[in-house]
Amino acid sequence: MTFDDLLQRAASLARPGHRAILGITGSPGAGKTTLAERVVRELNGDGPPWVAHVPMDGFHLADVELDRLGRRDRKGAPDTFDAAGYAALLRRLHEEHEEIVYAPGFERVLEQPLAGAIPVPPTAGLVVTEGNYLLLESGAWARVRAQLDEVWFCELDEQERIRRLVDRHEEFGKDQDSAVAWVLGTDQRNADLVATTRERADLLVPGTALPEPLTPPLS
Ligand SMILES: Nc1ncnc2c1ncn2[C@@H]1O[C@H](COP(=O)(O)OP(=O)(O)OP(=O)(O)O)[C@@H](O)[C@H]1O
Ligand SMILES: [Mg+2]
Repeated sequence: MTFDDLLQRAASLARPGHRAILGITGSPGAGKTTLAERVVRELNGDGPPWVAHVPMDGFHLADVELDRLGRRDRKGAPDTFDAAGYAALLRRLHEEHEEIVYAPGFERVLEQPLAGAIPVPPTAGLVVTEGNYLLLESGAWARVRAQLDEVWFCELDEQERIRRLVDRHEEFGKDQDSAVAWVLGTDQRNADLVATTRERADLLVPGTALPEPLTPPLS
């Protein structure tokens, strides 16, 4: 399996009159966002955009709400997202093709969601959505899978995944000790949970088929 095979498979999901939604999942740092950005970039090329990227990350609860819930130190866990809101947006993407549908983005420096950041135009026949919990069966997450045409699971060597995550936390301002502590603590609990959903994926994407990030990265 190569990245080109993945591009062809993604493109083939789109059909006239049906907006397809491709889900990409995998553990924290496995390369979901990079794969989604590259698929969207390559399929759109220089033409009018017909593929949109809608990350699950936009449905992070804001810090004010996490403080109220006493869950700020578990940011990234399944109950620190608005799963029902995410499922509802995916349903709207399926049902509303005549107007722009706005999705929230996630601002990595502030680590906060940002409403209205991502316009999905009527011309988008394929939406690529990506995040940790697309295949969870608990609570509102179960409604997410029901909206997805297909779900791919990114499999990256565990050591490499952890190395990249630590690097990224440092890049966004954590010192090395806190980056390692976060990755082996909070992130790892989430990674273990995501790993239990692997069997439910339609396609396992090996690390060798995962593309390199765009430079400069889009997010
Ligand atoms: N092929 C690659 N080679 C080197 N670094 C990579 C590669 N792909 C992704 N990365 C880097 O690894 C980190 C994690 O990748 P990415 O953000 O795509 O993963 P993710 O699964 O979306 O993570 P998260 O669950 O935290 O959102 C990023 O800093 C990214 O730039
Ligand atoms: Mg990501």
